[in-house]
Amino acid sequence: MDKFIIDGGEKLYGKITAQSAKNTVLPLLAAAVLTDEQVKIRGVPTINDVENMLHILREVGCRIERQKDVAVIDSSNAVSHEIPARLTKELRSSVFMLGSVLTRFHRAKISYPGGCDIGLRPIDLHLSGLKRLGVKIVEKDGYIDCLAEKLTGAEILLDFPSVGATENIILAAVKADGVTVIRNAAKEPEIVDLQNFLNAMGANVRGAGGGTIVVEGVKRLHGVDYQPIGDRIEAGTYLIATASCGGEIEINGVPSENIAALLHKLRENGCKIRAKNDRIVLSSDGRLQSVDLLETMPFPGFPTDMQAQYSALCCTAAGTTLVVENLFETRYRYAAELKRMGADITVRGRTALIRGVEALHGACVTASDLRGGAALVVAALKAEGQSTVLDLSHIDRGYADFEEKLRKLGAKIRRVRV
Ligand code: EPZ
Repeated sequence: MDKFIIDGGEKLYGKITAQSAKNTVLPLLAAAVLTDEQVKIRGVPTINDVENMLHILREVGCRIERQKDVAVIDSSNAVSHEIPARLTKELRSSVFMLGSVLTRFHRAKISYPGGCDIGLRPIDLHLSGLKRLGVKIVEKDGYIDCLAEKLTGAEILLDFPSVGATENIILAAVKADGVTVIRNAAKEPEIVDLQNFLNAMGANVRGAGGGTIVVEGVKRLHGVDYQPIGDRIEAGTYLIATASCGGEIEINGVPSENIAALLHKLRENGCKIRAKNDRIVLSSDGRLQSVDLLETMPFPGFPTDMQAQYSALCCTAAGTTLVVENLFETRYRYAAELKRMGADITVRGRTALIRGVEALHGACVTASDLRGGAALVVAALKAEGQSTVLDLSHIDRGYADFEEKLRKLGAKIRRVRV
């Protein structure tokens, strides 16, 4: 397992172009099986979650061509409706395959994805939505077996604006008979990107980004050549690191409205931020004021995927911050590791009370999930002295060229293979 060695205390200066958004590329790859024509997706980051999704596509019979950061998927020979269990364990997002495989084969079998490091991650909203479209679902021996002789449009109301459930229902509705209306749908930018991708394939999806999405079933979908949106979570991670360490960073490829909630908080912390179209410039003296409260919410609220990284910044901001994590049950596993670096964090259930300290000191810490691992790197870049961050497999799931991009900004970070 690789580790990072980080010598903290450096200010960060430079420019970063965001990778294509992991949480867009994954559903787009699942959507590639909706047509038997060629699908080309550009700017595809080399991260483990993407490689695992490409592996799943190969397992169902797709031919994949990977040229640098482009993925070309030919699913004309796709034959299997079964997603192998070992891959579902690896990658929760494989559950997105349900909707698209059902549309292609009218059958789909997947092992129950189960929970992960940040919570139970149920899929009841996915399944109840699919049932509304006429899918018969048998859950047995840890498998979910779906049969849909006919997919018929329906009115669906989501109890919670689940990103994955919204995406899965759209993928199952794009070629259904009639119209599907999804109310209380997730509003994330990645849903808008999925809508644009599907419409470029000849689908008829409207309303993404708002709470109600209308999908009019079409007969056929054709191939597409598509550039997904930039990764707002990756961009936010670099903005938070620069805000905390001090310096100046220019991020390209992410529209500022896609991370408005984070920019609002960082301005409250005392950062100077200029944003125009998809160019964001942040400067910070590294001596931040804390905000009293941070609550994670579905989009356009503060994203849960930036809670850990932002909490790391709060550890050395002057004052106290109360963090409330409303999306996932156990998204504070990084807190114990930050305490090893001298952070003053008290976690109770879904809340964390963070009292800013003068400085963090280097320590040997272990990542336990993707964004928690990124938070440990943010803290180590700020800390006095040397830190080691172990178990990079989590970080490698979502950040392409992480240490290279940070080194380009002036960070003293290197990867050691162990
Ligand atoms: C997506 O996960 C993202 N993953 C997550 O990013 C992100 O944290 C999450 O949306 C929220 O924004 C991808 O897009 C691949 P949800 P997803 O369904 O779809 C509950 C990262 O770090 N829920 O919106 O799984 C669920 O328990 C990852 O990049 C149900 O109760 O999230 C959670 O409390 C982590 N029943 C809440 O909804 C369901 O059927 C939000 O989950 C589905 C979800």
